[in-house]
Amino acid sequence: MPHYVLAIDQGTTSSRAIVFADNGKPVAMAQQEFPQYFPQDGWVEHDPEDLWNSTLAVCREALVRSGLAASQISGIGITNQRETTLVWDAVSGEPIYRAIVWQDRRTANYCAGLKVQGMEGRVSSLSGLLIDPYFSATKLRWILENVPGARQRAERGKLRFGTVDTFLLWRLTGGRAHRTDATNASRTLLFNIHRQQWDEELLALFEIPPALLPEVLDNAADFGTTDPDLFGAPIPVLAMAGDQQAALFGQACFRPGMLKSTYGTGCFVIQNTGAEPVASHHRLLTTVAYRLNGQVTYSIEGSIFVAGAAIQWLRDGIKLIDHASETEALAAQVDDTSGVYLVPAFTGLGAPYWDPKARGAILGLTRDTGIKEIVTAGLQSVCYQTRDLLEAMRNDGAQPPSELRVDGGMVVNNWVLNFLADILGVPVERPEIIETTALGVAYLAGLQAGFYKGLDEIAELWHLNQRFEPQMPEARRSQLYDGWIDAVRRVRCD
Ligand code: G3P
Repeated sequence: MPHYVLAIDQGTTSSRAIVFADNGKPVAMAQQEFPQYFPQDGWVEHDPEDLWNSTLAVCREALVRSGLAASQISGIGITNQRETTLVWDAVSGEPIYRAIVWQDRRTANYCAGLKVQGMEGRVSSLSGLLIDPYFSATKLRWILENVPGARQRAERGKLRFGTVDTFLLWRLTGGRAHRTDATNASRTLLFNIHRQQWDEELLALFEIPPALLPEVLDNAADFGTTDPDLFGAPIPVLAMAGDQQAALFGQACFRPGMLKSTYGTGCFVIQNTGAEPVASHHRLLTTVAYRLNGQVTYSIEGSIFVAGAAIQWLRDGIKLIDHASETEALAAQVDDTSGVYLVPAFTGLGAPYWDPKARGAILGLTRDTGIKEIVTAGLQSVCYQTRDLLEAMRNDGAQPPSELRVDGGMVVNNWVLNFLADILGVPVERPEIIETTALGVAYLAGLQAGFYKGLDEIAELWHLNQRFEPQMPEARRSQLYDGWIDAVRRVRCD
């Protein structure tokens, strides 16, 4: 008899729930999109009730579709958009402000001020991160400063802070569990990645009262049990992990040097660096890959804010296409974009530039430029940005990877993966299951439930779907990439 877990993947644009069997195969899935709010330039918010309601709805729907009762589910794993910041009332559970999304840049000036004061080196040595609005700390501080009475309530222990994992766990357990995991904690800018605890110096710097903070557990742990009324029977929550770390786990990148790239709203390349944290000299992040039985595995991460979101913008923003799936055929008709570049810096630039004030642009337009060239430039931008990250890793001294494992919604597009292999000069591997984020947290829940003896057994469940070999001559690769570097230079602000 197989065992089953329910994986919740609460992402930036949609909530998903997938029931997995212990052999790593998905059994049933449900998905719901929810609204995005852009109240001002550079601001991005979610309604916390949308996050909760869509999550609950997809869990129930996936259970119904699986034909399984809640009592047949061994455990739940939660994976989530990271850094997104919520604060709620400790008693009623009511949020005091909308969720401030990881893409939100409202604290750019405050961050710039801290950098001018020379704080970045110290912050980086403690947290592994950089000073940037991306991370939770300055968003949390903004809420405390701008919601009337919030700071006083926080100091009196009346409020709770959490990233999305913590908020969902709080709601799922009927307010009984205020917990997070080491990967999500490592994205807040408040967590000491060496000592594996909230850091007093960082809390003081960002003026965060410690009473707000959740308890930090391993990725596979007993996080709490769901309220019995929600699914008809209580289900234990056995795993939590930030979505990019969950994807690394789902891709079975367990050996130092192995890396993956996930193409969701953004694109995140993470490389396993083993038991010791490795500091980047090229503006990549040092972060927790996973923590099991108290043992930390670290990673180096490159974070790009806009990947799939560029295609979403081509569809919903300027309406050049009706469906993302059209892009593959359009790009196949274009031999050469003739110097057209789309730099999707809609919310600034992430790694390795970290330029929150940069904005997007389409460059190199001529009278011949049409929809297909712009769409192709959009797809290419995702590949060029991945190359930016691999270049930074190489400059940090990493060996060139023997292959790059990819996942996320965009990797169904063969044209993108061919171009990616070409522009990187590295083979690209697509696994059979591309829902790697949900799969990763399902494996973590399965580990805690005792389905697997160890990581080797999980690694054996990874199966290749297709490998894409680089075909492009080196001279052409360099010429195209040089054009990208020039396009980025033209949109930068600092
Ligand atoms: O750091 C942000 C990241 O976790 C968001 O992931 O999948 O929603 O693009 P995604």
